[in-house]
Amino acid sequence: AGDYEPMEGEGKMNMKIDLDSKKVVNMEELAAGDKKVYCRCWLSGTFPLCDGTHAKHNDATGDNVGPLIVSGPKKE
Ligand code: FES
Repeated sequence: AGDYEPMEGEGKMNMKIDLDSKKVVNMEELAAGDKKVYCRCWLSGTFPLCDGTHAKHNDATGDNVGPLIVSGPKKE
């Protein structure tokens, strides 16, 4: 589970995605040749996909968050 330490303040990271859910989980199978860019900052307007909002967040806060880029199997 890693070295978890709660963040200062409210400690809440997700302020807008699926707030009625107890836990936000997404699962997707990528087809051959597909590539997807997933949000890890919780700020995207197209969550779970990244829409570039992390760049504004990083500029405003000095943070360094960015997306997860996943590639499906190579096309034959
Ligand atoms: Fe969240 Fe890009 S918008 S990582």
